[in-house]
Amino acid sequence: MHKRKIQDIIGENYIFASVLHYFGLKFYDYSDKTLEQVCKLKGLSVEKISQSFERAVNEDATPDFEQLNYPVELLVEYLKHAHHKFVKQRLPYIVDLIQACKSQDPYYDQVLKDLKFVLPLFIEDFIKHMYEEEDELFHYILLLNKATSGDVKMFNLFQSMDKYRLQEHALEHHIHEDEMAGIRRITANYNLINCNDLHIKVVYSELLRFEQELKTHAKIENELLFPLALQLEAKVKTIFKERVNLN
Ligand SMILES: [Fe+2]
Ligand SMILES: [Fe+2]
Repeated sequence: MHKRKIQDIIGENYIFASVLHYFGLKFYDYSDKTLEQVCKLKGLSVEKISQSFERAVNEDATPDFEQLNYPVELLVEYLKHAHHKFVKQRLPYIVDLIQACKSQDPYYDQVLKDLKFVLPLFIEDFIKHMYEEEDELFHYILLLNKATSGDVKMFNLFQSMDKYRLQEHALEHHIHEDEMAGIRRITANYNLINCNDLHIKVVYSELLRFEQELKTHAKIENELLFPLALQLEAKVKTIFKERVNLN
């Protein structure tokens, strides 16, 4: 690994480009240098970077749904952490990657122009979606959870229940899943056509990887979070009825 050129390392696995990015290295600035030369230049440890390459390959697997059988507070934390990673790590990296990408090929030149135009709009919508989830959905679910242990003033909760239509949100969330349709269209489904450009290959692979991450994220929300929330809501409604009957 030490003596290999950066372009060869990235060519072997495009994910390695994201690892270098987190170390502050843009792979396209050092394509012809070896990993050892770059590390010397930047005062970085070759071992550390190699270990991070290994970790990135292992981490890339999608999470096991069985293992995500968390209690609701932990599931919400897990999803919030994923949101944070999208905003602070994944999207800035993809934006950097695309901003710095140029092509002499008229087809890819147009693709890159279109991506540069569409990406900020996609990000704006996506961030809005995440903030709405955190401020409304997650907040409401945690409130329901507290209510099942009698930890919430019932009047406040009743108001929230009236305002927040969980069932509708669950359905809408299913429908609005396909946020990346526009990007998929621009890139012909992430299909590379006669492309030998490493930078473009990394861009396409990162967009595809991001789409897969988003799909997994939405699947966790649809298949784990919403059903749990609906169960909690039904439980709280039963508690309500029992209290009303007692009075
Ligand atoms: Fe989310
Ligand atoms: Fe979502």
